[in-house]
Amino acid sequence: MSEINILSEDLINKIAAGEVVERPASVVKELIENALDADATSIIVEIKNSGQDLIRITDNGKGMNEVDARKSVLRHATSKLKTVEDLFSIGTLGFRGEALASIAAISQFSLITKQKDQLEGFNLVLEGGQVISEGAIGCDQGTTIEIRNLFFNTPVRKKFLKTDAVELRHIIDVVTHYALLHESVDFKLTHENHELLNAPSMGDQRSNIASIYGISIAKELLEIDYEDDLVRIEGLICKPLNSRNDRNQQVLFVNNRWVRSKELTDAVYEGYKSRLFVNKHPIFVLSLTLNPHNVDVNVHPQKMEIKIEQINEVSKVVTQSVIKTLEKHNLIPLMDVESEALTMGAEVRKTYTFEPSQQTTLKVEETTASYSDSYDLGSYVTPEEEVIEKGDYNKISEPVKEVEQIVEKLPHMKIFGQVHKTFFVAETEGGVLFIDQHAAHERVMYEKFMKQFKDASVSVQELLQGGVLELTAAEKVLVEENIEELSVMGFSIEPFGGNTFILKSVPSVFGRLQSRDLFQVVLHELVIGRNTLQELKELIITRMACRSAVMAGDELTINEMTKILSDLQKTDFPYTCPHGRPTMIKTEAFELEKKFKRCG
Ligand SMILES: Nc1ncnc2c1ncn2[C@@H]1O[C@H](COP(=O)(O)OP(=O)(O)OP(=O)(O)O)[C@@H](O)[C@H]1O
Ligand SMILES: [Mg+2]
Repeated sequence: MSEINILSEDLINKIAAGEVVERPASVVKELIENALDADATSIIVEIKNSGQDLIRITDNGKGMNEVDARKSVLRHATSKLKTVEDLFSIGTLGFRGEALASIAAISQFSLITKQKDQLEGFNLVLEGGQVISEGAIGCDQGTTIEIRNLFFNTPVRKKFLKTDAVELRHIIDVVTHYALLHESVDFKLTHENHELLNAPSMGDQRSNIASIYGISIAKELLEIDYEDDLVRIEGLICKPLNSRNDRNQQVLFVNNRWVRSKELTDAVYEGYKSRLFVNKHPIFVLSLTLNPHNVDVNVHPQKMEIKIEQINEVSKVVTQSVIKTLEKHNLIPLMDVESEALTMGAEVRKTYTFEPSQQTTLKVEETTASYSDSYDLGSYVTPEEEVIEKGDYNKISEPVKEVEQIVEKLPHMKIFGQVHKTFFVAETEGGVLFIDQHAAHERVMYEKFMKQFKDASVSVQELLQGGVLELTAAEKVLVEENIEELSVMGFSIEPFGGNTFILKSVPSVFGRLQSRDLFQVVLHELVIGRNTLQELKELIITRMACRSAVMAGDELTINEMTKILSDLQKTDFPYTCPHGRPTMIKTEAFELEKKFKRCG
């Protein structure tokens, strides 16, 4: 007797539904995608009981005629794919012809639809996938789909739903994300008749984001618009200091599809590298357009995962466009004296009434500390390096009155001196700058070392006696695997029999002790496998920069301050230290006027 059964249509639909419809938000996603594919310019989503009692989506798209409406709820019924070739060049959000059939199989389903030239619409009602009624109905052009009692016949799935609040949040996420991308489409979301989102059609993406994320976030975002043969990248990203504690405001679209992509997200973070404070996450809404031939969307039933053929190249372009965008802008944070909160921007307020000071800056002789006793790099710098560094600073022999603006990144400023041996104070157009000496110098050193690493010109210091390293078996394998790379980083290592190795040289900015310590850190990280050697480079360079930079508490002369600032001006990103802390903040004269009650 044969033991193999052909599954019934009903069972097949339920199995398919299990893949397509994970939760109420999946229904919302599928129905919004259908509305967008039907060229709707208005999409209204109404929800009851977090989607479990009712999901109703009304669009003003092109609608369906009676024949197509009947077909639309059958499995493998789609107007979007015709040939096998189409599958490899998908330009619509849907393509499988599965969504409506899956949703209808596990709910009470009603469809009302009408095309432009029809006199009346058509209504189709199903329960658990079976048609229970159909007929003509008066309605506007477009389509309304109503889902009641989702999962009524799949109780196990229903049991796995999270709390109502979580399910509702997923729905809000879906509607928000599509509303963010489609600025010319009206999106409305209500829950129990309360409006949760109202994103009317807007002329541009920034206004659209303002209506969704709020004006204060939207006005601080920086625009990206980049195009080459491979990809077009459009959208908005935040300034590093406006980043958030969570990743909730990160959205990626590829060919108008909201996607999850670790590679592309990593590429954005790579662009922020050394500009973000620890555990901070950038806000970004980025839309990539690629040749559909190079994108496979048929990877996962929920169509959120994609495969991009030249993902490495595309990621590099994403990183570069983020870097370029951040570097293009003046990102000195403003200190809001009244609220003591930091805001970003550097525009001069119109109401500013102060005249810039005519006072000359402090002369070098007026500061008591000499370079060598105040600027102690001794423990971290080799004797030659120290001479070079000192020589560098001593080149500015005349008292410097003002720091010339070498590039536009930093404003013209006049240094007044140092407070608390920690901050420089400078006058600038429209206000006062406070500069964190350690953070500023750290940025200078970081970029200097980064360049050395990039050019493979890391200066090394030979260890005359050589450091003997006793390694574990796992460490030995890792060291042998990475011996070339490690030597590029300045650690040259030679085998000495068995598990013993000799550390012959170390990056020269360190004294021996630190370097050996650092090598142990590198090794430890490699062993636990959390970081690749590439990521460790970043860690090492950041540490080197931190250790070699002037510290809070170091007393500096005006010459030294000027040198640090003119070096800072030449860096790619002078606004934060490599850990993402600001190097400087500005208090506007306008704010001081307010504080002193000089203006109404
Ligand atoms: N809101 C709508 N307006 C107009 N036509 C629609 C709408 N929703 C669905 N359709 C039609 O019904 C068909 C079936 O929709 P369904 O969502 O099941 O499949 P699909 O969108 O083609 O593919 P996928 O399963 O990947 O979503 C669509 O191809 C489209 O022709
Ligand atoms: Mg669809």
